[in-house]
Amino acid sequence: MRITHCEVDHLKSPVGFQMDRPVFSWRAEEAEGTRVTEARLRVFEDGDCLLDTGFASCVSSLGYAADLPLKPRTEYTWTVAARTDAGDEAESPVCIFETGKRDEPWTGRWITCAEGDRLPVFHRVFRPEAGREIKRARLYICGLGLYDAAWNGERIGDEVMTPYCNNYNAWRQVITHDVTEQAKQGGELTVMLGAGWYSGRFHHRSRPGDPGYYGRDLRLICEMRVDYADGESVCVPSDDRWFVTRSRLTFSGIYDGEHRDDTLPDTGPEAVTVLPDAPGKLEDRLSPPVRVQREFKPVALIHTPKDETVLDLGQNHTGIFRLRVHEPKGTRIRLQFGEVLQDGCFYRGNLRSALAEYRYVADGEEREIRPCFTFYGYRYVKVEGIPDLKKEDYTALVLHSDLAPTGSLITGHEKVNRLIANAQWVLRSNFLDVPTDCPQRDERMGWTGDANVFSETACFFRDCYAFYRKYLRDMRSEQDAADGAVPFVVPAFGEDRHSCCVWGDATCVIPWNVWRMSGDLSILREHYPAMKAWIDYIARVDGSDHGWRRQFHFGDWLALDHPDRDPNERLGGTDEGFIADASWLKSTRITAETARLLGRNEEAGHYDWLASSILKGIREDFITPGGRCAVNTQTGLLLALEEGLSPRPEVILAQWDRLFEQTRRKLTTGFVGAPILCEILSRFDRHGQAVDLLLNEEYPGWLYAVNLGATTVWERWNSLGPDGKIADNGMNSLNHYAYGSVCAWMFRHLAGFQPITPGCGRVRLEPKPDVRLGHLEMRLETAAGPWAAAWEPAKEGTWRYRVSVPFGCEAELCLPGYEPTVLTAGEYSFTA
Ligand code: BGC
Repeated sequence: MRITHCEVDHLKSPVGFQMDRPVFSWRAEEAEGTRVTEARLRVFEDGDCLLDTGFASCVSSLGYAADLPLKPRTEYTWTVAARTDAGDEAESPVCIFETGKRDEPWTGRWITCAEGDRLPVFHRVFRPEAGREIKRARLYICGLGLYDAAWNGERIGDEVMTPYCNNYNAWRQVITHDVTEQAKQGGELTVMLGAGWYSGRFHHRSRPGDPGYYGRDLRLICEMRVDYADGESVCVPSDDRWFVTRSRLTFSGIYDGEHRDDTLPDTGPEAVTVLPDAPGKLEDRLSPPVRVQREFKPVALIHTPKDETVLDLGQNHTGIFRLRVHEPKGTRIRLQFGEVLQDGCFYRGNLRSALAEYRYVADGEEREIRPCFTFYGYRYVKVEGIPDLKKEDYTALVLHSDLAPTGSLITGHEKVNRLIANAQWVLRSNFLDVPTDCPQRDERMGWTGDANVFSETACFFRDCYAFYRKYLRDMRSEQDAADGAVPFVVPAFGEDRHSCCVWGDATCVIPWNVWRMSGDLSILREHYPAMKAWIDYIARVDGSDHGWRRQFHFGDWLALDHPDRDPNERLGGTDEGFIADASWLKSTRITAETARLLGRNEEAGHYDWLASSILKGIREDFITPGGRCAVNTQTGLLLALEEGLSPRPEVILAQWDRLFEQTRRKLTTGFVGAPILCEILSRFDRHGQAVDLLLNEEYPGWLYAVNLGATTVWERWNSLGPDGKIADNGMNSLNHYAYGSVCAWMFRHLAGFQPITPGCGRVRLEPKPDVRLGHLEMRLETAAGPWAAAWEPAKEGTWRYRVSVPFGCEAELCLPGYEPTVLTAGEYSFTA
């Protein structure tokens, strides 16, 4: 047996992350026996054992939360040993984690400098004491808006956009960097600051030049802690001994890009100002790192009919770039970014007010330039100022949060494969620290509704635990300040504290999906108060006369069935009050179930009661005595089936079949209906219809976009017309993930992978092959182990199925012609 995938709080060897009751998880592989019966976790500090659970069955590989007397800035080691029912035993390698500053008071002070027309660089020199050996050095740092730290001119670490995007009013993240090697060398620590999300303009209602919402000034706090081998420690804090010079960056902003002028002279030192303590608590980080995840070269250099020079990256994505320049001194270079060409020419109209550009003034030297404090959502780059540009000079650097890939799906249908790839690209593009709606226009915000409906798919493709945990931390902080209401966007950036259904329900659905996939209850334990606060908030708004239904709700956003039939209409045709109640019911059920899992039976009882009274209200007003749903839209009927709103689902299904014919077997659903469309059809014996919808290549449908060359998922079914013309309707992104949520259904029904127990230790496997897809292969790294399932045509109209069940897991296999069987670990092949 081998113990692998050892993680603390779902992170590998975390250093400086926030930790209260760390959760230890791992996986057992290549073991004899059928399952691990008991495990023993040991945690050490400096060789002393802090915790020894002894062999115990409660030490679950999916997550064991330990109460430990953690100190600040301390390294811990841990191991886990496990035993199977066959007596096989193994121990993990020694793993580490290290705490950050925790609640330790800061010696460093917040410092700032005079405003200027160039971004400031803060300096401090450190020289190690001669003859003393340095054991370890760490830099604890928070720079607002964003910081870029360097040692003797070389970047420290490989993270970008630090310290990330938060509700800065509630907390600010401290990042810990290992600077042991740098401290040994000695030299100069420099920290450049840029505006970022904190002090630059950032809101969909802002305009270029607007100030930031959270703060105006750029500020820095840090402590470099150097531990000598002889046991002594030195602290180099941010204070009035630092000085400031000016960088050659004259502007940076999330939406508007960056300006750099290399002809500017060096500047002399300026004094720093020490600030009184700022509001917003400093806390160790939760954000998983954002890094350059891959690099690629343009596929073409295009000279457009308008005589523009445009690079085509071949793939819409989020990131920055590296560009080799060697132009005469004073040459002005400008790069602009866009998602799509129009009539063969560069286009950026759908970015609205976001300037999304990079301006550079050359100093005559050959250099590689790269933005520091911005990012772009793009496929095409228009380049001005480089007459003999070669495409090899440009390298795209893809940025997103570093989350382990978990799931993959390949079929025999090229266009479906492209759709799956597009969904993975839309995930990468919108997982830059915050789950965002889009990465390109003047928005890029943590829209809760989009995050809600995509979270299940995201959890199939990546290990999202740490990423969503941080988002939920921000969500709680916003809810705390708003009586439980969940704002439209998180962090809210001053967005009026409105709440609406589905968007706000993210606070229940996301932790629930994360728990289902990870099997680690801590996410629910941590977030349960916010789930309750949300349900209770709605109950207050609802009062005694259905006030919740009368609130503003986005409803089935961007659906195609609004009575106006205007293709640019944003609201759908499904009664928003009905959606509001159905989705309140769903969240209340999740909350009741969560209460039960946490052993809060009385509260569970209360939410059970509330759920039944919401259901009663829905039935009174929206379900006829015969069981029909009065909201006769696709989304209305899908919700009725999903939540069991009618006591007679067969009546709803009859309604569905009729409506489906009336809508010419095409979808009309928006953000609420589309994510559950195929899932509900497959669940209710209409899998053929679901596959028809998937494979439909005409408008509206998933493959319509693929046929038009989409490399990501679009915001609207009609983002581009059949002629490739972009709909100019003021809200049209080509990189929006809501409709990518169809992929969860592909895992659950095409591959047939339906988790029964959280963490996927027990799974129902019911693959549903379809000749039109040729074959299919699914791989999924779950918390419980690596699963695989595949189907392909065999002789005489039969199918060959291959299944791989990981150690310790069980599959309830349902294949046509076979009695349902339970499979334990192993590789299997069936023909049916
Ligand atoms: C965003 C959405 C979001 C919506 C609210 C848009 O501007 O891009 O995806 O959910 O507003 O309805």
